[in-house]
Amino acid sequence: MGGDRPDTGRGDGERGPEGDARVAEAAAALRAGGLVLMPTETVYGLAADAADARAVARVYEAKGRPSFNPLIAHVADLATARRIARFDDRAVALAERFWPGPLTLVLPAADTDAVCDLARAGLDTVAVRAPAHPVAHGLLEAFGGPLVAPSANRSGRPSPTTFGDAVEETGAAAAAALDGGPCRVGLESTVVALLDTPRLLRPGAVTRAEIEAVVGPLSEAEADAKRSPGRLARHYAPNAPVRLEAAAPRPGEAWLSFGPDGAGPWNLSPAGDLAEAAANLFAYLRAADRTRPAAIAVAPIPKTGLGEAINDRLRRAAGFVG
Ligand code: TXA
Ligand code: MG
Repeated sequence: MGGDRPDTGRGDGERGPEGDARVAEAAAALRAGGLVLMPTETVYGLAADAADARAVARVYEAKGRPSFNPLIAHVADLATARRIARFDDRAVALAERFWPGPLTLVLPAADTDAVCDLARAGLDTVAVRAPAHPVAHGLLEAFGGPLVAPSANRSGRPSPTTFGDAVEETGAAAAAALDGGPCRVGLESTVVALLDTPRLLRPGAVTRAEIEAVVGPLSEAEADAKRSPGRLARHYAPNAPVRLEAAAPRPGEAWLSFGPDGAGPWNLSPAGDLAEAAANLFAYLRAADRTRPAAIAVAPIPKTGLGEAINDRLRRAAGFVG
């Protein structure tokens, strides 16, 4: 499409999930090989037909990914997932417990062209997830097959959690853009590999304890980048340097506070609630970054529960390997 912004086709006053006609148009754009900004409950994704290698190549290009990092195949339901991945009992148990929702399973790939080699970065495994957002679900049903969708940020930048941020990041590459409002969760899905022993490849919205209650103890992701290719050091990073575990901001620093004693416009959760902090994290990092501070100082965030994923993203924003 022309211009550097996708046509959202919406009046200024309109709000809320997209109607069926807009979703049908977006599905048609996907069938024609185009990319679509898709809201999910975690973060906005940049979606493409998982079977179409040329469309998938455009996703990598739009993100500016330095190397091919495999993409998550999004599906409407478990039945569709079973056509593209081999599920064992543990995988079925996790899918039944957490889908639709913010859990991605890395499984042996089924013998099918529904997810192209490029989307899997040539691996014989595939990552699958059924998102809970009604607009994502509607798009998957209307399209009728798996859609790959990495977070809609340009490579190395914080994931977009609002429609405006998604359009700003990769909207220029999208043939259609669906507004699903602000993302309820605000952090990417938890990624668990079920290839040998269950492994936590990326902490996320579903906590370690919730997964372990279903499949038992999780092994750590291996340091080997080939096994967990998404775990790059500087990732989710704003332009300003990020200073963690700060007791207070220094002159010139933007301040991301937390809890009842927190101050300023970017208190991640005045109530000290980790789910609220997760939902605000990327939007506040972006807002703080826009003021061009000397650095972004971040208060200590508890490490338990959802705090594991929040601290993982913060360490990456600061440039440390998790
Ligand atoms: O919440 C989410 O998961 C969002 C929304 C849009 O669904 N998507 C997302 O995608 O975060 P992306 O591409 O930004 O992150 C996918 C992660 C990467 O760390 C990637 O390396 C990992 O999943 N991954 C994908 N396929 C894999 C595979 N076959 N083996 C190991 N890791 C894989
Ligand atoms: Mg990402």
